[in-house]
Amino acid sequence: MKKIGVLGAGQLGRMLALSGYPLELDFHFYDTSGKPSVGLGDITIDTKADIENPALAAFLNDVDVVTYEFEHIPLELTQHIESQTDLFPPSRSIKVCQNRAEEKALFTKLGIPTPKYHIVNNAKELKAAVEDLGCPVVAKTTTEGYDGKGQFVIRSIEQCSEAWDSIGNSPKGKMTLIAEEFVDFKRELSVIAARSKNDDMVVYPLAENSHHEGILRYSIAPAPHLNKEISDQAVTYVKELMHELGHVGILTLELFETKNGLVANEMAPRVHNSGHWTIEGCASSQFENHLRAICGLPLGNTDAYSPTCMINIIAVKGDIESIMSLPYAHVHLYGKEERAGRKLGHITVKADTLEELNWRVQNIASFLPGSPDFEGSKNEKN
Ligand SMILES: Nc1ncnc2c1ncn2[C@@H]1O[C@H](COP(=O)(O)OP(=O)(O)O)[C@@H](O)[C@H]1O
Ligand SMILES: [Mg+2]
Repeated sequence: MKKIGVLGAGQLGRMLALSGYPLELDFHFYDTSGKPSVGLGDITIDTKADIENPALAAFLNDVDVVTYEFEHIPLELTQHIESQTDLFPPSRSIKVCQNRAEEKALFTKLGIPTPKYHIVNNAKELKAAVEDLGCPVVAKTTTEGYDGKGQFVIRSIEQCSEAWDSIGNSPKGKMTLIAEEFVDFKRELSVIAARSKNDDMVVYPLAENSHHEGILRYSIAPAPHLNKEISDQAVTYVKELMHELGHVGILTLELFETKNGLVANEMAPRVHNSGHWTIEGCASSQFENHLRAICGLPLGNTDAYSPTCMINIIAVKGDIESIMSLPYAHVHLYGKEERAGRKLGHITVKADTLEELNWRVQNIASFLPGSPDFEGSKNEKN
C-alpha cells in the first residue's frame, strides 16, 4: 500500500484522499497553516515550514511520494523535499505557478496569448504602467493571491496610489505587482489536464466558470456551445505547458474566451475548484487522475457523462437538508466553520439537457443564501 504525503490539509487534500482510498492509497498531510480541516489521514503540523524540523524528516520517512494541494509553499521547502524523495508535480511547476510574472513569461515564450502587462515595484511604476495600458487595469500581487485576494481594479489614473497602498504595501513588506490590461471576455473557461511520468496526457472537457467577488461560484461542464477550434486550442496550450514544465499530475489553466479567441489568465499546478464536477461527472475524477499520475498508474478516462454543474457553498451552509432531499443533488461538505468568503462545500448536479441542468441549479441555489443568481451559460445569450 502506497502512502501519499500531501503538503496542505484543506478540502483539496480531503478530496484527494477520498478518491485515493479505493485505489488502496493511504495519506499523511503536512500542514503549515496550523488549522488543518482535512479531517482524515495522518496529520503533521509545522507552522514554520522549517526544513530542519525533525517532524519533516519523520513525515518524509513515512511517505512514498509527496504532492501538494496549494502552490504558495516556500521553494526552500519543496526543493528540500525533492532532494530527499519524489515530489510531483516538480518544484519547477510550483516555482512558475506561484509567481504571476513567471507564469506570464512562460505563456509568452510558448506563444500563448495573455493580457498585455507590466511588472511594477512602486507607485510611480504602477502609474506609468496604467498610462501605457489605459484604464481599466487589473493590478495583482505577483505572489500569494487567490480567490481574488491581492487584487485592485484601477478605473482611473488617480486611483494608482490608493491601489499601491492597498496591495503593494502588505504587512509582510513591499510586494511586486503585475498590472494587466482589463480583458473584455465573453466568458471564463478552464482546462484541466493530467500528465504521467512517461508523457501520457489526458484532458477534461473545458468548464465555463462564473465568479462573484473574485470567488468561483458556478462551473458548467462541458462548457456549453464551445467552438471546436477554441477547445482544441485550449488542449494544445495545456499540453504544451505540461510538457515544457516536465509536469507530472494535474495542471489547470484558466482562460478568457474573447471575440478574438483565447487569452490565458493564470494556471495552477494542482487539482482545481473548477474540476470538482469530475467527481460525479467522469469515470476518473481530477483527484483520481492526479494520484494515478504521481503514482505511475495508467491515467483514467476524462469524458463527461452529461451536462454537469458545480455550485460552491460559500460563507454560509444554507438549507443543506432541503438540498439533500433533492434527488439530483450530490452534496460535499468540507468540515469547516462558516466564515465570510470561505469555501465550505460544493454541490454537483447532472442532467440530460442544459435546460434541465439550469432549473436544477436554480432550484439548489434558492436554498443557498447569498448565492448570486445562476443565469446558465454566458454563451447561450450570444
Ligand atoms: N486581466 C483581467 N481582465 C479582466 N478580468 C480579470 C483579469 N484578471 C483577473 N480577472 C478577474 O478576476 C478573477 C480572479 O483573478 P485571477 O487572476 O484568476 O486570480 P485568483 O488567483 O484570485 O484566482 C478572474 O477569474 C477574473 O474574473
Ligand atoms: Mg483564478
